[in-house]
Amino acid sequence: MKLNRGRMLTSMPGPSVIPERVLSAMHTAMPNIYEGALIDTSVSVFDELPAIAKTSGRAFMAISNGHGAWEMALTNTLCRGDHVLVLESGRFAIGWGNQANVLGAEIEVLNAPARGAIDPQAVEERLRADTDHKIKAVLAVQVDTASGVWNDIAEIGRVIRASGHPALFMVDCIASLGCVEYRMDDWSVDVTVGGSQKGLMVPPGLGIVWAGEKAMSAHKRADMRTPYWDWTARQSNDAHYLRYCGTAPIQHIYAMRTALDMITEEGLEAVWARHAVFADAVRAAVEAWSAPGGLEFNIIDPAHRSDSTTTVLTGSIDAERLCRVCEDGAGLTLGIGLGDFAGRAFRIGHMGHLNPTMVLGTLATIEAALGAMDAPVGSSGATAAARVVSDALKS
Ligand SMILES: Cc1ncc(COP(=O)(O)O)c(C=O)c1O
Repeated sequence: MKLNRGRMLTSMPGPSVIPERVLSAMHTAMPNIYEGALIDTSVSVFDELPAIAKTSGRAFMAISNGHGAWEMALTNTLCRGDHVLVLESGRFAIGWGNQANVLGAEIEVLNAPARGAIDPQAVEERLRADTDHKIKAVLAVQVDTASGVWNDIAEIGRVIRASGHPALFMVDCIASLGCVEYRMDDWSVDVTVGGSQKGLMVPPGLGIVWAGEKAMSAHKRADMRTPYWDWTARQSNDAHYLRYCGTAPIQHIYAMRTALDMITEEGLEAVWARHAVFADAVRAAVEAWSAPGGLEFNIIDPAHRSDSTTTVLTGSIDAERLCRVCEDGAGLTLGIGLGDFAGRAFRIGHMGHLNPTMVLGTLATIEAALGAMDAPVGSSGATAAARVVSDALKS
């Protein structure tokens, strides 16, 4: 039976739910693109974006998705033939690394242990062994949206510093900014990559890159630079349109302005704390459901399960059917398993504009779908999650 009337809910790990306020801000007639309110709004967004990554560096924004932001980060800082160390822990760091390779870098991959996070000690050992400083950049992802892992960027930054290695540290925070604690400057990150469509609550279409001082120095030497992504042109004060290398993404600028206002009103630290509660609720549910032959966490160490996305292995349960029952029967869209996880996992996104109704609704719906499939489950995940929310509401 199909019960999927009412408002559909997306609980994929991005694109995430867009707040009505953000959608309304986009509903605007075309303004003057050369002067006035649009330019003022755009400048205010550029000025405030560094606070989201906790950096005194500079933010660049392009009309692109996350892949474009990756390319902006690489082409502005690297030279052809540079050796790049890719810290892989799922699917996305290697995607970024492969892009670097196509652009002319040599890549070396350091894999996290299966179903685990990057080992900072292994990074330190590799960098200390690189005595002639062949490695020019280290690429990592804070939250890998395929595996659901959270990597300890603070600790990786610390070991890079401790090793005295001069490589640039570049971090993909596409699935974690605006969800999970992140401190670019304190953690010695030189380049941060983000996208509009997850924790930042804006539709896909804005790629954002934050560059610190060391990255801006590397930019002067970089020979991978191309006209569209080039930071030098995008810093120009001659005409505002150069910041976007052409026509500005007008409606996205208004959306981003409103999303930044919403984050400021709540407080970035409060946003992180809210995400931590919802992540605990999701984890309590998965823990309760877990059963031999049934569901289990992909990431084994609880300390490395991310606060923005959870990847659940489905064992003997048909993952695709579970997603289908949730969507077609109940109006809930979950994330499917990506890459190697296809058909044997589903993902719950708990990022962005969420309240307990949405998170508990998602979990209770998954539980109902599991029940409809006569899937083996331990105990009630919805009840366990509600307990986490009760405790948070009490505090
Ligand atoms: C961690 C991470 N990096 C990069 C990307 C790629 O972003 P996009 O699909 O916007 O190009 C994604 C997309 O899901 C992601 O989750």
